[in-house]
Amino acid sequence: MAARPLRLGVNIDHVATVRNARGGRHPDPVRAAIKAERAGADGITAHLREDRRHITDRDIERLLAEIGLPLNLEMAATDEMLGIALRHRPHAACIVPERREERTTEGGLDAAGARRHLEPFVGRLVDAGIRVSLFVEPDAVQLEAAKALGAPVVELHTGRYCEMAEEATGGEGELARLAQAARHGAALGLEVHAGHGLGYATVKPVAALPEIAELNIGHFLVGEAIFVGLEASVRRMRALMDEARPLGSAEAAK
Ligand code: PXP
Repeated sequence: MAARPLRLGVNIDHVATVRNARGGRHPDPVRAAIKAERAGADGITAHLREDRRHITDRDIERLLAEIGLPLNLEMAATDEMLGIALRHRPHAACIVPERREERTTEGGLDAAGARRHLEPFVGRLVDAGIRVSLFVEPDAVQLEAAKALGAPVVELHTGRYCEMAEEATGGEGELARLAQAARHGAALGLEVHAGHGLGYATVKPVAALPEIAELNIGHFLVGEAIFVGLEASVRRMRALMDEARPLGSAEAAK
């Protein structure tokens, strides 16, 4: 298929993690979002967790009021988060599984097994004009369940691929799963995104998959920012994505 333009969503959760380690206001995730925009981000992603361990309700309010980029709110399928999303109406909402004891989002959503629970969340967010994505493993059953639920977008979990590629233990097999899932998702009419665990060493093979429209990347960019600054880390990531999917390739491939 013709390659789609590839957007970069920068996840700023861990700017808030550092701020919260001491309390107070520094470093400010809104300032990070503005820097990310300057460096070529197409969107900002933030996960408001039940325990508010990084992003807070006030951060979401400020991001919506103070940044120019579309906000992608990552949220668990709970009544509390649905109420917040409907009140703020971000551009997009990505429904993720959330367990209190996990360090980060550990696996994809079981869209197939939790269909009855998820249906009203997807329906109400879609009705409110919010672009809904479901964060799922690269698995045909999950993609078909996302489609049946009426979600227009899926985000493929790249965590396993990144772990295996970094350990040099079979990243190719995981990449093939991602490629197949991206094709299957696109054939179902879903917009396909990907993210989790991506860094400079792992981004290009995923960015090269022509069906993928957006990557969401956070932890690596914020970590690298300690050494080079956030604008530089975002610019480098953007450059690697563009090397894998040259700008203008969408037009050229039509
Ligand atoms: N996409 C989703 C759905 C996520 O939950 C996360 C982590 O919050 C990311 C992307 C970004 O992952 P990372 O911080 O590892 O780049």
